[in-house]
Amino acid sequence: MKVEEFDALIVGGGLSGLRVAIELADTMNVAIISKVYPLRSHSGAAQGGINASLGNTEAGKKDSPKSHAYDTVYGSDYLADQDAVMVLAEEAPKIVIELESMGAPFSRLDSGLIAQRPFGGAGFPRTCYAGDRTGHALLHTVYEQCIRKGVKFFDEFFLVDLIKVGNNIAGLVSLDIASGELVVFRLESVVLATGGFGRIYKRSTNAIINTGDGLGAAFRAGIPMQDCEFVQFHPTTLYGTNILMTEGARGEGGYLFNKNQERFMSKVAPKAMELAPRDIVARAIDTEILEGRGFDDSYVHLDLTHLGKEKIMERLPGIREISMYFAGVDPIEKPIPVQPGQHYSMGGIASKYKGDFGETPLEGLYSIGETSCISVHGANRLGGNSLLETIVFGRYVGRAILKKNKQKKLTASDVKKAESNVFKSIENLFSSWSENTGKKPVEIRNAMKNTMDVNVGVYREATRLKQAVEDLQQVQKDFKTMHIETHERKFNFGLIRALELRSMVDIAEVTAVAALWRKESRGAHFRTDYPTRDDKQFMVHSLVTRKKDELVIDTKPVTLGLFEVKERAY
Ligand code: FUM
Repeated sequence: MKVEEFDALIVGGGLSGLRVAIELADTMNVAIISKVYPLRSHSGAAQGGINASLGNTEAGKKDSPKSHAYDTVYGSDYLADQDAVMVLAEEAPKIVIELESMGAPFSRLDSGLIAQRPFGGAGFPRTCYAGDRTGHALLHTVYEQCIRKGVKFFDEFFLVDLIKVGNNIAGLVSLDIASGELVVFRLESVVLATGGFGRIYKRSTNAIINTGDGLGAAFRAGIPMQDCEFVQFHPTTLYGTNILMTEGARGEGGYLFNKNQERFMSKVAPKAMELAPRDIVARAIDTEILEGRGFDDSYVHLDLTHLGKEKIMERLPGIREISMYFAGVDPIEKPIPVQPGQHYSMGGIASKYKGDFGETPLEGLYSIGETSCISVHGANRLGGNSLLETIVFGRYVGRAILKKNKQKKLTASDVKKAESNVFKSIENLFSSWSENTGKKPVEIRNAMKNTMDVNVGVYREATRLKQAVEDLQQVQKDFKTMHIETHERKFNFGLIRALELRSMVDIAEVTAVAALWRKESRGAHFRTDYPTRDDKQFMVHSLVTRKKDELVIDTKPVTLGLFEVKERAY
């Protein structure tokens, strides 16, 4: 059994993980494992930008962290924890300056100031950007800092299972994809930063690597999943491939049209129009399509033609390229066909805001970014707050680990025993997959994705959600008897897909069960059978765990107090 020892290990090489590593690297021996080369992480796909109140004025008012926090809480349909949101908003200007000083190539105004574009649900132009490739620019910037600080990277290492002793993390077992060897990482601080789980859906803007590996490992270790029913559907994904068509396109002035050439957003958000929050725009588009006003019963038009060639080439070059390559449409000349698609998960691993920031109920195990639920997005995330969360909370999680460090409490014999048990159970699992005679992972994966798309989409209701739960229980059964070849381990991508599926089937089931339980409509979770928000019963976070074979739902209160709870209207 190969063993590596560090002070702290981060799982995931996206922006969250990299930023935690920067915080730790000066004083700790820190490493990152990532199932892909870190610059291939999904943070690189973020297009539109990162929010920070840098003092823009609009109608005589000046932007501030408080307005940013207010917009975020209002956008979240009051499910976000308001104290955590305030921290996010207050830290935002500082981290944009930090990123700038690291060399992030933000787009500029003629005056030299960092340019900011309007984004959905925001009272001011607050989204800093680097053209329409902001995530790519930031990922490179932060990665360079990790290299400078000597962070050790284990590229193409897959997290298989966590190792715990009592209620403490003791390490994890990973699979070195190239050699096929299982490698144990022994340490008392682990950060899960593996991104989201969007690939439980078929129509998704997510990279195929977004399979919830960190969430699955935490769930199997008994840690609750919080608010997973809140799935964000991005309104504008490219018809056919569901590649993201950034909200920045509407921020720059793009319009949405149905097949009757109506700007249908006037019906649901007459003030904000195309810049209403995503949940509202996604529902409006789906309604147009469902009621027969979409094109080919499938999509609407995102029209940028009036913006002109110069603006499109300067601010939205990536959108133009993607539209041309993947849909054969040049947005300078023609509207882009778009439809809603899964984009982000507001829920994640239940993690602390107070005390040891980002820590999960398992001591020494932290989570961050889309993997976690701290919770700053509540029932609906505002665009531009996700890149922000990675950097702000990356710092905070790093600091929490530093504060706690050196409290080594586990005995070597307990750790070795736990390692050997987990190691053996993984070997047994791999052997059983070879011996089984059931379905292939791809069949099981497709069944899961189909039911999620059809039954746990933008509009939900009890019959469909029950169908999804039933389908997913069958998916779980099929997974138990799944067959794959595991004897040859080197670059065995069949094995990697199976390991990904192991987490996805759990998280899909959690999502469907929590969506069935939440009998109200709030943010991105819209129940046609319960179309209003019910603060009396459901102003709570959901917490799902598995007890024996049953999923059990518990709740915890939402932190309110800074902003009065109101009805949302845009
Ligand atoms: O539309 C976008 O550019 C996405 C941004 C985000 O999810 O924050």
